Amino acid sequence: MIKHGKNIYKAVKHAVFMASPKKEVKLTDLPGIGPTIASKLESAGYCDVMSIAVMAPSELSSIADISEAAARKAIAAARKVLQLGFEDAASYAEKRKEILRITTGSKNLDALIGGGVETKAITEAFGAYGSGKTQIAHCLAVNVQLPVERGGANGKAVYIDTEGTFRPERIKQIAAGVGLDPEKALKNIFVARAFNSEHQMLLVDKVRDLLNKGEPIKLLIVDSLTAHFRAEFTGRGQLADRQQRINRHMHNLMRLAETYNIAVYVTNQVMARPDVLFGDPTQAIGGNIVGHASTYRIYLRKGKKDSRVAKLIDSPNLPDAETVFFITRHGLSDKQV
Ligand code: GTP
Ligand code: MG
Repeated sequence: MIKHGKNIYKAVKHAVFMASPKKEVKLTDLPGIGPTIASKLESAGYCDVMSIAVMAPSELSSIADISEAAARKAIAAARKVLQLGFEDAASYAEKRKEILRITTGSKNLDALIGGGVETKAITEAFGAYGSGKTQIAHCLAVNVQLPVERGGANGKAVYIDTEGTFRPERIKQIAAGVGLDPEKALKNIFVARAFNSEHQMLLVDKVRDLLNKGEPIKLLIVDSLTAHFRAEFTGRGQLADRQQRINRHMHNLMRLAETYNIAVYVTNQVMARPDVLFGDPTQAIGGNIVGHASTYRIYLRKGKKDSRVAKLIDSPNLPDAETVFFITRHGLSDKQV
């Protein structure tokens, strides 16, 4: 029941992101939201109608300090406004045509997510230590440079590294594997070490500057999305603040992805949940906020014989399915070599 509800929620969110409203609608255009509530929402990271449309009434009610009924009304209005974008089906189809898919190197993994990591979308990989999140990031940073017919986007990558795990040597190996000049492949990746969560968020604005200068960036990696937030906001009382900041960060990423036709790939750790006895005893850091803002979520774990198992979770338009791939010297592969 809960799962079903969440899927509908995600589908609405997906539709909202894909819609293209003709005129800019402000928060204060929504019923029950005046300037005071709007600025409260803005400081919590909910800056546009889109972010209201994807909220749960209880969430809006507690952040804006309004009744749940009023929150429900505002959310309904936000959804209605944004769905007007669907009237223009021709331009919607035109926008979808621009979407590119970047290969991971594994046909299995590509197929799981609809043909590769999509532009105008956020793909989130979450899983335990050593499950392959960073390796996928390295492969994508190389493969985005390939021509479109080979599963690339003929573009450059930006790698926001929060844990110091970016490895130029690994890039060279993977580049050699797909027949790219290793040195050129390295030059096509902008790497920035993010030292704290504020810095991490600031770097997204820097990506915008690079794009405005004409850099053909087609992929933005944030590895890891949540580590700094997790380390900096530790107390129970800071949980809401942490979630709000992650939420704002995700919305900035989504906006960048949509505006510039970029694929965004983010990684997220899982924490052990000793209180869960049945089902999956792990939970993504950042919880539902990251989940709701990601278009595709892949849960990674180690499988038999050095394999990796990837499971697609709660996708609005693809079945929840599972597949197997391997991490090899030259990148990802369906076969162990
Ligand atoms: P955390 O960031 O610690 O949460 O883990 P992660 O999910 O990012 O793991 P990562 O992608 O770094 O995966 C590490 C694993 O990839 C290693 O344990 C190896 O199994 C594999 N790996 C890394 N480099 C190579 C390589 O050059 N060759 C092969 N065959 N496997 C590699
Ligand atoms: Mg990693």
